[in-house]
Amino acid sequence: MNTNNMRLANKRAIITASASGMGKAGCQLFCAQGARVAAIDRDRNGLESVVEQINSSGGEARGFVADLSDTAATIDVIREAQAWLGGVDVLWNHAGMPAPGDIDDLDLDRYRLSAELNLTSAVVISGEVIRSMRANRAGSIVFTSSTSGLVGSALSPLYSALKSGVIGLVKGLAVRYASEGIRVNAVCPGPVATPMLFDDFMKVDPRFSEKENEHRVLSAVPMGRLGQPMEIAHAALWLASDEAAFVTGVALPVDGGQTAR
Ligand SMILES: NC(=O)c1ccc[n+]([C@@H]2O[C@H](COP(=O)([O-])OP(=O)(O)OC[C@H]3O[C@@H](n4cnc5c(N)ncnc54)[C@H](O)[C@@H]3O)[C@@H](O)[C@H]2O)c1
Repeated sequence: MNTNNMRLANKRAIITASASGMGKAGCQLFCAQGARVAAIDRDRNGLESVVEQINSSGGEARGFVADLSDTAATIDVIREAQAWLGGVDVLWNHAGMPAPGDIDDLDLDRYRLSAELNLTSAVVISGEVIRSMRANRAGSIVFTSSTSGLVGSALSPLYSALKSGVIGLVKGLAVRYASEGIRVNAVCPGPVATPMLFDDFMKVDPRFSEKENEHRVLSAVPMGRLGQPMEIAHAALWLASDEAAFVTGVALPVDGGQTAR
């Protein structure tokens, strides 16, 4: 494949939670734009099918299986991925999960698991990757926050807490490492048509039925529709690429206008 005119030509990228949804779209898009991608997920079969599809159409990706809520496994897999890539230019820290809907009847174990995946894994992974980006004095990190990190989510205030924590991390890292050539930004998706939306988010607020939650989610979006995974991947691609060379510390809503009102 001639990658010279591509937006991620010769870039080495890591994408987490990439066996499905937006992360999968990101692997496909980043590879189509010339990147070599280390795709990390706990779903071995899902990863195999993403990687096979990319490699059979002329791209280059490899799957790495790990449960990213396990810190030791996370450190191991990031080191493995970086060793395969020979360094890293782009990281899309996409892994996350819903948090419990209730705080007055809190499922503390589930909250802790959500905090591990949404925030702790993002901290640990960034630390590992920033070490090698600092040595190169270059790099772009994209985090997946959410519109729920920008405004309060009635569905799950705890999810808002964790995803706004991601934005705080983004801003702090952005100002700390700007002078070393490392950019750090977030995409903030509104509701996107992925299994997580239908299987989890629509069910986290027990005060309402799934149908009612679906109506509440859709009626919050001025465009009146769900986002598609590739629409978020395109925003991440722009933030990851040199086209966004003067952009750092930004939390970019990709939300059909949800946070505009
Ligand atoms: N779908 C939405 O409406 C929406 C909106 C805003 C933000 N988000 C964020 O997007 C990300 C989820 O992406 P998606 O919607 O594309 O979901 P998805 O359901 O399509 O994919 C989630 C992927 O994460 C993987 N995964 C789950 N737990 C894992 C773990 N412990 N270790 C490793 N991999 C794990 C799954 O195997 C799956 O491949 C999360 O950070 C979520 O908070 C989603």
